[in-house]
Amino acid sequence: MGISDVLRSRKATFLFSDKEVKEETIVDLLDSARFAPNPTGIYEYEFIIVVDKDIKKAVSEACLTPNIDSAPFIVIIVCNPKKLESLFEKEEANEICIDNAAMVAEFIIVHSSEIGLSNASITNLNQAKMRQILGLPEDYIVRWVIPIGYSSEESKGYEQTPPKIGDMVHIDKF
Ligand SMILES: Cc1cc2nc3c(=O)[nH]c(=O)nc-3n(C[C@H](O)[C@H](O)[C@H](O)COP(=O)(O)O)c2cc1C
Repeated sequence: MGISDVLRSRKATFLFSDKEVKEETIVDLLDSARFAPNPTGIYEYEFIIVVDKDIKKAVSEACLTPNIDSAPFIVIIVCNPKKLESLFEKEEANEICIDNAAMVAEFIIVHSSEIGLSNASITNLNQAKMRQILGLPEDYIVRWVIPIGYSSEESKGYEQTPPKIGDMVHIDKF
């Protein structure tokens, strides 16, 4: 499938089958995500790949998404905004972290969808619980959680239809 079709057909999945995914595949996804556009060249984000059954369960509870521990891998993007504070005020550094994590997450989501894997985005999470589960150093925050695997046939995604393009585009001025 070409990238344009991948973008139009991708759907989030919160329930996964037990079909195996190789660890090298996940590492390759993260390797390509290193090349996501980055505004500073500082790369303040890192990845945690969760494979342990009990940790996946704890993460799924802290994310209020009870079934994502069915995924063979849960990728977590963590950021250290302090790394940006030589260039930006604290608040701006936090905002840049959010933007950059979104860009990196999008690379992971699109690449994994392109190779037939399913995923979901989760950002509404219990930060304190996640920090404790993952043993995060003090300066880091959890920005994005992406369970990745093959979708279960019973998976019920969200039915969302974007507006028509003609309702979203303005030429030259609003
Ligand atoms: C930035 C972002 C954050 C999200 N956070 C959550 C979340 O915390 N919990 C959740 O159940 N879904 C979350 N979602 C929604 C799903 O991942 C999914 O994208 C959404 O339901 C739309 O379905 P679709 O991706 O199949 O179009 C988030 C989506 C985005 C883009």
